[in-house]
Amino acid sequence: MAIYKPFMHILAIETSADDTATAVVTLAPDGRGTIAGQARYTQAAEHAKYGGIVPELASRAHQVHLKALAESTMAAAGLSFQHIHAIATTTGPGLTTALAMGASFGKTLALALDKPFLATNHMEGHALSPLLAPDGLLATAFLTQHQPYLLLLVTGGHTQLLQVNAVGSYRLLGTTHDDAAGECFDKVGALLNLSHPAGPNLATLATTGNPQAVPLPLPKTANDLDFSFSGLKTAARQAVGSGHYTAADVAASLEATIATVLANKLALALHHTGLKQAVVAGGVAANNTIRAALAKVCQQQGVTFTATPLELCTDNAAMIAYAAGLRLQHGLPDGGGLSAPLHPRWPLEGA
Ligand code: KG4
Ligand code: ZN
Repeated sequence: MAIYKPFMHILAIETSADDTATAVVTLAPDGRGTIAGQARYTQAAEHAKYGGIVPELASRAHQVHLKALAESTMAAAGLSFQHIHAIATTTGPGLTTALAMGASFGKTLALALDKPFLATNHMEGHALSPLLAPDGLLATAFLTQHQPYLLLLVTGGHTQLLQVNAVGSYRLLGTTHDDAAGECFDKVGALLNLSHPAGPNLATLATTGNPQAVPLPLPKTANDLDFSFSGLKTAARQAVGSGHYTAADVAASLEATIATVLANKLALALHHTGLKQAVVAGGVAANNTIRAALAKVCQQQGVTFTATPLELCTDNAAMIAYAAGLRLQHGLPDGGGLSAPLHPRWPLEGA
């Protein structure tokens, strides 16, 4: 039996990596979510000079900024803390010291306000984030008509194909054997001297390059729905080292190859599962070349395609509030409440 609540306001805290984010999402009885307010502090500039995320720096910045972000989120939502039904916080996967800051803040708030604490899986947040798309098409199909969707989840640490059957029910169809697509963007971007986060910077550089200039291999995997990006990274490194190509041409060729790999795998997974709707989510889903390649294969197969709204692709707290709210509506476990442990690694199928 679903736990029925008329309207719920969920406040969420997200500190799994280098973005400090808070949001309030309001859930309607039918499960539709709207973002009532949100705030984010991007630490990218503080980490850029080190070439990547420094966990200690990240956790210190989370500690400094959380209170003001939460207050401005509440002000934007026009709500007081007493209006909040539950406090959701990302408790994994992510950097332990960074997660710990959000978890202590969220638990303290929940204790002080006497509200439930919902320990939330960051990947579940990404997985359900496309349901917040303003057109509401996926939300209607999934929440009202109970149609499952094929999810391509592409972040800095994950590249996975999942069948999303219902809230809390995820079947892994394929995953990466080595690097994630985001890691491949970031590592090759670093070789091209692009500053952290290199993925979006590489995408910008790619707009001025020739995607056919550098011959790059399409990776092979034993299970045809799995991924491998380390060979592609090595080939790109060799292309950079050869001195025969411009940085823009390497960037454009790498981006085009990753887009082709992802589109081919999505097409195969649609073929294997017979699913009629496909979705891309996660930080790498912000990439326009990838969005276009996925949209094209879905159109060819007569499948509805939803690209997660750009502002919800990269890390944010709205997706955490929403996933936690949907789990609450469906009567799913709270991840341990105030005693919830941190999960630096936390597979979505176990969430
Ligand atoms: O989901 P996300 O914000 O954080 C994780 O949960 O990992 O994903 C971050 C990843 C990074 O690897 C970043 O370089 C990549 O997403 N990314 C992009 C773009 N925007 C973010 N990669 C390619 N093109 C983009 N436009
Ligand atoms: Zn993420």
